[in-house]
Amino acid sequence: MTDLLLLNGPNLGTLGEREPHIYGRTTLAEIEKTVRDRVAEAGFGLRAEQHDGEAELIGALRRHADTAGAIVNPGALMIAGWSLRDALASYAPPWIEVHLSNVWAREAFRHNSVVSPLAAGVIAGLGAHGYLLAADAVVRLLANAGPDG
Ligand code: DQA
Repeated sequence: MTDLLLLNGPNLGTLGEREPHIYGRTTLAEIEKTVRDRVAEAGFGLRAEQHDGEAELIGALRRHADTAGAIVNPGALMIAGWSLRDALASYAPPWIEVHLSNVWAREAFRHNSVVSPLAAGVIAGLGAHGYLLAADAVVRLLANAGPDG
């Protein structure tokens, strides 16, 4: 079976407990299950990993370089995670960046992204539902949908 990668960065392992007024009450395990079920409908498997460390995230990208596409929430590494950025540049398949919160509506330090220019698309501010939208988007990209969707 062809697999997709769901990669979550620092502090996303505590979703459900972490600042629920910002990130919601859905746990990462629930998000992973929802995404797994969704991509299975399109015939894909899912490999899901969460790491707090940049090095582990880079290792995961290398180990899963054979996946067909990815959904990535880099957390705060979006802002200045240059090593993660370089690892994503070496990850050939299309990937979608997801943020639960609308980072551009929050503190100014969250407005810079070193990874977004590499993403096929960015979804922010839609909470856990954003992962589902990203899953659909990756599947569509792999079906060779053009800019008109
Ligand atoms: C986040 C937004 C980041 O600014 C923050 O550091 C996170 C979560 C989000 O999903 O909204 O850890 O990526």
